[in-house]
Amino acid sequence: MPISIARVPTERPARYLKQLIAHLGHKATTTMTGTARGTVTTGAGSCALTATPLGLRLVATAADEESLARIQDVVARHLVRFAAQEELIVEWAAPVAGGDLEPVSPLVDEYLLNHCTPADEVLHDLATSTREGAPRSAGMQVAHDEGVLLTMLTKLVGARFAVEVGTFTGYSTLCIARGLAADGRVLTCDTSEEWTALAHPAWEQAGVADRIDLKLAPAIETLRALPADAVIDIAFIDADKEGYRAYYEEIVRRLRPGGLVVLDNVFLGGRVLDPAYQEADHVAMRELNDFIAGDERVESVMLPVRDGVTLARRR
Ligand SMILES: C[S@@+](CC[C@H](N)C(=O)[O-])C[C@H]1O[C@@H](n2cnc3c(N)ncnc32)[C@H](O)[C@@H]1O
Repeated sequence: MPISIARVPTERPARYLKQLIAHLGHKATTTMTGTARGTVTTGAGSCALTATPLGLRLVATAADEESLARIQDVVARHLVRFAAQEELIVEWAAPVAGGDLEPVSPLVDEYLLNHCTPADEVLHDLATSTREGAPRSAGMQVAHDEGVLLTMLTKLVGARFAVEVGTFTGYSTLCIARGLAADGRVLTCDTSEEWTALAHPAWEQAGVADRIDLKLAPAIETLRALPADAVIDIAFIDADKEGYRAYYEEIVRRLRPGGLVVLDNVFLGGRVLDPAYQEADHVAMRELNDFIAGDERVESVMLPVRDGVTLARRR
């Protein structure tokens, strides 16, 4: 499903946004959130409009390129008319499909990776042994900057009990274990004996093996078996996407106030933005993202870190 973006420089973004939403409200479905965001949906497709300090940002989506051109035209024509004295220029970027979106460009990714606390020898060796021991699956490992983020978040919440869903070869587990308070523990869940076998030497070498409890079983069973009054300080969910919602529920109900759930891959490579992707994991992730945004038990923020990371903090 094609998506196209236009950035329209203007000094009156909120005014034109309000005018456009009010005017098109008579012939299309419109919504307005506060004074800076609105949407227009017509039979052709929809367009989200955001007033920013630099102007208006438009994101148009439609089922095909012909319909995209129609919704683009409706929005652009009205904007240009409302801003007659300014001579607005609406230039749409070439359409992309949701699955091709790169939330952060590879160039920026590289820069980020080179400007965080570097990997030490243990992490470096674990990345190498993962590439050699599980070559086809090594891409599942968190990138190093995300690992640093996990260590930092674990320290920031002063975690004594952490839970991880999705151990793989133990890189993220090690990052969490390193952030724990002196007497802290991390329970990590996976089903693969083969992959997790690669983790043990690294955990030993890093001197954190005694803080890590690896449970080899379907994660939902492990989580449900936790005492109802267990107190989780931080959790990292990075496993089968269809299971996320159930993991989230088991974790949130045990999360202490101020505790954090960290969810990985919430963009699914951009596919969550594109309704054309309707496989079970796309639908599940889209629904979960919507659910968390409205979940009153937590305050949440979605970060464009790698493939998208949501932080949900228990109120
Ligand atoms: C993306 S990888 C985790 C990567 C890991 N966090 C890291 O940084 O190296 C996903 C892991 O989830 C595990 N997994 C998938 N479904 C699972 C389930 N139902 N229960 C427990 N683990 C599961 C897989 O075996 C795999 O190791």
